[in-house]
Amino acid sequence: MTYHELVEKAYEAMQFSYSPYSNFKVGAALLTTSGKVYTGCNVEIASFGATNCAERTAIFKAISEGNHDYSAIAVVSSSRDFTYPCGICRQVIVEFAKDIDIIVAKDYDYEVYKIDELLPKSFTQIDLK
Ligand code: THU
Repeated sequence: MTYHELVEKAYEAMQFSYSPYSNFKVGAALLTTSGKVYTGCNVEIASFGATNCAERTAIFKAISEGNHDYSAIAVVSSSRDFTYPCGICRQVIVEFAKDIDIIVAKDYDYEVYKIDELLPKSFTQIDLK
């Protein structure tokens, strides 16, 4: 699967965004090393702290099905600008997917990052040893 195709999957997932409070739609598509794609959207709750971001929805879907091996995640939104993963999602990515390419896309344009660039000097499992 090309990164462009993965971005298209993220846009498909964005259609399911439940975001009546912010009207800010986000979609994500997580590519496993075996080629399977787990998609996710943001799900907002009236008690805002319970909201789940699109990236975490996709990652938690994969984890909940026993799949822990990923190569990339694409993130898109309804904004006219790129949407970068929030701090909590960065922490989840460093926990479960620290080597993946993080593709931040807007239409046909995208940028690719590693988690070390987005979350330098992170706190991880290693620090608990
Ligand atoms: N959001 C995401 O889904 N992913 C991010 O990385 C940034 C923020 C969602 C959460 C909330 O539903 C909306 O965008 C506005 O913050």
